[in-house]
Amino acid sequence: MGRKLVVGNWKMNLLQKEAKELSCAIVDLIGKNYDNCEVVLVPPYTALREVGNCISGSNIDLGAQNVFGKSRGAYTGEISAPMLVDAGCKWVIIGHSERRHLLGETDEQIRKKISLSISYGLKVILCVGETETQREEAVSGSKDISTKKRDIFSPIKTQIENALGAFDEQGLLDIVIAYEPVWAIGTGKNATSLEIAEIHQCIRELLVEMFPDSGNNVRILYGGSVKTGNISDIMSVDEVDGVLVGGASLSVDSFFKIVKLIGS
Ligand code: PGA
Repeated sequence: MGRKLVVGNWKMNLLQKEAKELSCAIVDLIGKNYDNCEVVLVPPYTALREVGNCISGSNIDLGAQNVFGKSRGAYTGEISAPMLVDAGCKWVIIGHSERRHLLGETDEQIRKKISLSISYGLKVILCVGETETQREEAVSGSKDISTKKRDIFSPIKTQIENALGAFDEQGLLDIVIAYEPVWAIGTGKNATSLEIAEIHQCIRELLVEMFPDSGNNVRILYGGSVKTGNISDIMSVDEVDGVLVGGASLSVDSFFKIVKLIGS
């Protein structure tokens, strides 16, 4: 298993000047030699260059929030994997719930994006997670606990099988999974340690079933309202290998505290 990983997803926030200030402040605080955990900053496309310049020579890597499933051509408005590599990205987030649910991204599109990204040497953060309705339906009625658990995990299982089913063990080496319950993203309502542990265990079992040789080595992150106040609880769950942070990654203070706590 690799080091713990902290990913700051800035979403559609920050102009170039603001992105430069934030990333340079993060580099100043974390230091060029910070090695206790792996840190990735994921700004909007328009700020990739500014952030790339600020983090150059540090141990912080650059990531993108999305990618298209073709490498070039007449796809107005899209950005390809080789373009991301050219812009200095090492990582790409794929299948974020905001893209799945607000923009209708499908499992098939996600599978293509992963496949192409890996072929260009990008590391992939694949986001999966259940909606509030899916969780409510899964826990309703008089079922036994293991059936409830199975039903809660069912949409996540489908997302992972559809995204990764066609890959071999080798392809899995560049993939990290982020479990992000949709109801916890940007809502301030994070999942409890127990809920996180249950899903992370299920994801691990599924990965090992699908990829007996490397399923145990894939890092599984938690995301959804991660902040300074809950990071210790979240990281106390054995199965959590890091976090995907949205809102709290936009403040140097909170992001730094989260990184420090994870790396300590
Ligand atoms: P949040 O976002 O931390 O603001 O909930 C997490 C994410 O969407 O990755």
